[in-house]
Amino acid sequence: MLLIAHRGASGHAPENTLASFSRALEMGARAIELDVHQTLDHELVVAHDDDLLRCGRDRRRLKNLHWDEAEAVDVGSWFDKRFAGERLPRLEEVYDLVPPSVELHVELKHGSRVYPGIEERVVDLIHKRGALSRTLVSSFDHEALYSVRSLDGKARLGYLLGLTTLKTAVREMKDISAESLNCSMRQANARLVKAAHDRGFKVLVYTVNTPADRDRLARLGVDGIFCNYPELDLWR
Ligand code: G3P
Ligand code: CA
Repeated sequence: MLLIAHRGASGHAPENTLASFSRALEMGARAIELDVHQTLDHELVVAHDDDLLRCGRDRRRLKNLHWDEAEAVDVGSWFDKRFAGERLPRLEEVYDLVPPSVELHVELKHGSRVYPGIEERVVDLIHKRGALSRTLVSSFDHEALYSVRSLDGKARLGYLLGLTTLKTAVREMKDISAESLNCSMRQANARLVKAAHDRGFKVLVYTVNTPADRDRLARLGVDGIFCNYPELDLWR
């Protein structure tokens, strides 16, 4: 079972920052998950939320900001004063930091309906970095996954189940040749794991932060867990 550092080592450092990704690497993470948005001037920025509320009383949305405004925001202090001055990373900076041996799970928070052209930009970056084999693009926005597939027949895709029925999910995952079905801990059960495995899909489960939950999912036979604490990886 693969442990994927969720938003980096986000139990130890502000999520989705270079500090969080560095910490995950120091802790020996073999895979890292992150979330991607797009600024008004089309920079791919790594952050979970659509807005900056987590960082203070800042209601501005990333889609309405230019990169120079977004990069000025302190995204570390809310977590701990030690991280004051931490900045939003651009996706390309994560590829600079994380060595090729480490898998990257790049979650598109929205596709082109919210962020015009985001799928092309992500696929272009993956190509420029020669990172097709170590990148898995995931999304709850299944149209975005269809777009990524149409741009690259070899891109690795993770289908985030969300509110979609298993039946529809299986049909769409076949359509786009997805590699994994990504679901929440509540959704993970023996029936779902069997349905996915019978059709050749992996099952990746979020967010699993205790040894008890980790062990339950290992017994279910899931292929990976997203976890805020890379130190819970005991299977290497
Ligand atoms: O990709 C798994 C998980 O990260 C999806 O939920 O809200 O943590 O991005 P969220
Ligand atoms: Ca995510």
